[in-house]
Amino acid sequence: MRILGIETSCDETGIALYDTSPWESKKPAHQGLLGQALHSQVAMHEVYGGVVPELASRDHIRRILPLLQETLSQAKMGVQDVDAIAFTQGPGLAGALLVGASVAKGLALGLNKPIIGVHHLEGHLLSPLLAENFLQETGENIFPFIALLVSGGHTQLMLVKDVGEYQLLGETLDDAAGEAFDKTAKLLGLSYPGGPAVSALAKSGHPGQFKLPRPMKHSKDLDFSFAGLKTAVLTQTKLLPNLDANEQAQFKANLACDFVEAVVDVLTSKTLKALDETGCHRLVIAGGVGANEQLRASLQKAADESGRKKGSQKFTVHYPPLNLCTDNGAMIAFAGALRALKNPELLLKDYSFDVKPRWPLSSL
Ligand code: KG4
Ligand code: ZN
Repeated sequence: MRILGIETSCDETGIALYDTSPWESKKPAHQGLLGQALHSQVAMHEVYGGVVPELASRDHIRRILPLLQETLSQAKMGVQDVDAIAFTQGPGLAGALLVGASVAKGLALGLNKPIIGVHHLEGHLLSPLLAENFLQETGENIFPFIALLVSGGHTQLMLVKDVGEYQLLGETLDDAAGEAFDKTAKLLGLSYPGGPAVSALAKSGHPGQFKLPRPMKHSKDLDFSFAGLKTAVLTQTKLLPNLDANEQAQFKANLACDFVEAVVDVLTSKTLKALDETGCHRLVIAGGVGANEQLRASLQKAADESGRKKGSQKFTVHYPPLNLCTDNGAMIAFAGALRALKNPELLLKDYSFDVKPRWPLSSL
C-alpha cells in the first residue's frame, strides 16, 4: 500500500509518500519512504516572535499543492498511484489543520481512495522507527518502549505497548519543554524558534553561575513543570541593564547554559524513573526538543552507564533521523500506514470534515 501523508498542524507544511511493502516484509521502515517535501514557515513567523495562526493557515494553502507535486515527482509517481491518504487530524491550530484536512479529503474523494486521520503526536512517537539503524539496533521486538515526547506544545512520557496502544505515564502541568526554550530565547533576545538558538548560545556559557530550580525533579510522579524555571530566568534577566555590552553577552550565555542544564537534568531524571518503573529496555525520543544536542548527550551517557550498577537495568536510546525530529509529512504517512496495517477498518471512505485541535493521545 502506498500512503500519502499530509501534515499542516502548525508551522510546517509536510507531504510524503510511504510504501508499506518493505515494512511488511520486515525490512527497515525508512526503505518505504518514496518521496517527501517540506516547507517551514519559521522565517515568516520570526518577525512576530511566534506562530501567527492566520498567517500559518494561508501559507499552508499556498505551499501544499506544489509540495505534493514535488513529493510525487521524487517518487516518480502520479496521484493515481496513491492507495490511501493520511492527514494530521489534530491536535494543532484549527485553521492550519483544516487546510491539510481539506486537501486530503478532496484528493481522496476525487481519487475514490480511503483516508485516515492521524494524531500528530502518534506521528512523532513512531518516527524513531524510521531511523536507518532502528531495526538493526533493536531486532524485531520493537515494543514495548518508553517514549519521551518533547515538542513545542507537549512534554509527555508514554509507555508504547504496540501501535495504537499508548499509556500516558506523565506530562507537563504547565509549559512544555519547547515552550520553555522559546520563552527563554525571547527573554535573552534570541530569534524564534528558541530551541536551537538557546542551545547554541549555551555552548559558550560557563555552567553553575545561576542556581536555577529543577521543578518537580524529585516528585514521586512522572509529571513535569517548566513555568517556574522560565520565571527564574526572567528574574535573572532583570539584572541585564546593570551590565555593559560584553558583560551582557557572557551573562546571557551563562544563563542559557544553566537553563539548558536544568531542563536536561529534569527530562533525564524523569525519563530514567519511567524506564525503571516500567522495566522497559528501550527509550525513544521524539518531537522538536529531541534534536537538542545537550539532551541527546545526557541520555546517551545515561544509556551507556545503564546496567553497570547493581540493580540498574540496561537500556538503549533511539531517535528519529534529525530531519524528522520536527514536524514533517513522513511521520504522518508512516503512523497512518502502521495504524491501517494493524486496523484496516480505520481506512474509511468518509469525506466529512472533522479536525480535532485538542485531542489527548491516550484517548486513541
Ligand atoms: O515537534 P515540533 O517541531 O513542533 C511541535 O509539534 O511543537 O517542536 C518544536 C519545538 C520548538 O519549541 C523548538 O524551539 C524546539 O522544538 N526545538 C528545540 C531544538 N530544535 C527545536 N529545542 C531545543 N533544542 C533544539 N535543538
Ligand atoms: Zn510536532
